[in-house]
Amino acid sequence: MPGGVILEAVGLRKYFVKGGGILGGPRRVIKAVDGVTFTLRRGETLALVGESGSGKTTTGKLVLRLLEPDSGRIIFDGEDITHLPESKLRPLRPRMQMIYQDPYWSLNPRKPVGEAVAEPLIVHGLASREEARREALKLLERVGLTPPEDFYWRIPAQLSGGQRQRVVIARAMILKPELVVADEPVSMIDVSMRAEILRLLKDFQRDYGLAMIFITHDLSVARLVADRIAIMYLGRIVEMGPADAILEDPRHPYTAALITAAPSVRLRRRRRYEIRGEIADPSRIPGGCRFHPRCPRALERCRSEEPELAESEPGRLVACHNPLPKGWLSKWLSSGGAS
Ligand SMILES: Nc1ncnc2c1ncn2[C@@H]1O[C@H](COP(=O)(O)OP(=O)(O)OP(=O)(O)O)[C@@H](O)[C@H]1O
Ligand SMILES: [Mg+2]
Repeated sequence: MPGGVILEAVGLRKYFVKGGGILGGPRRVIKAVDGVTFTLRRGETLALVGESGSGKTTTGKLVLRLLEPDSGRIIFDGEDITHLPESKLRPLRPRMQMIYQDPYWSLNPRKPVGEAVAEPLIVHGLASREEARREALKLLERVGLTPPEDFYWRIPAQLSGGQRQRVVIARAMILKPELVVADEPVSMIDVSMRAEILRLLKDFQRDYGLAMIFITHDLSVARLVADRIAIMYLGRIVEMGPADAILEDPRHPYTAALITAAPSVRLRRRRRYEIRGEIADPSRIPGGCRFHPRCPRALERCRSEEPELAESEPGRLVACHNPLPKGWLSKWLSSGGAS
């Protein structure tokens, strides 16, 4: 059960500037994250879902202060960390961890995996080398790399992709973090092992009361792990609410399109809610509602006025001038007729 608030993100923005120099071609401002607001409670999982380039990873890095935002605020456990210098962030770092998509890339190929798991304790001055080794053996066992003594001295190349991701999880969890951003943690792993890795994350979450931001483009994975889902489009959250409610009864036309396009989401009937074109270039975001050029329900107003993310009913937020009515998806799927 979710507890007190651990993280607040308020109006976060991060723009990247490309080109414009003597070599760089035309100057482009990439609006990777363009006004993101959400709250996360202890023990809760929020899934960030969206197409490639929608700003999910950038959002995750911002809240962990692996990137500094251009504007907005990040409140971690009641403390404003938005512009905290690295020296002041240091004591907070063990409490917030990131798990990346590619376990091979996040491990040193020459370092024995046991040492990689022990390392954060030593780096943060939380244990002696001996204590850290003992703790790492416990963690290896806990993530299913048994017997741990056998795994400790192996290098990443001697492990399967799934085993490497277990190492990465052990390395993050050895610090008993309070907040974890897991960025597509199972997308590079063999399908047969995904459920087990997800269960492992959920077990740690339960034991540590961990708050998790789970980044994925796969709505069925989001449904499995998340309490709430936030749908991102071109750097903004367009809809957010309880996972089941979002998937069964979406209000934003983009959410409906994602749900009906995902072959992995179980629906009573299969019928696709079509939207036009493709996600825009984040350096050329359309005016008004950024989704309007693709939206089947766009009104005149949507071309000029950007909708705010606002509560549509308790616990549910949507940024849309013409949202789908309550109960729309199931009716539309069973009608099979014109939309
Ligand atoms: N360091 C950077 N410099 C320039 N542009 C960047 C940088 N990091 C991200 N971007 C751009 O910002 C936008 C958002 O990127 P981000 O990685 O956050 O998206 P994402 O939703 O995680 O996508 P994916 O599903 O592909 O991982 C993209 O257009 C990306 O190219
Ligand atoms: Mg990403």
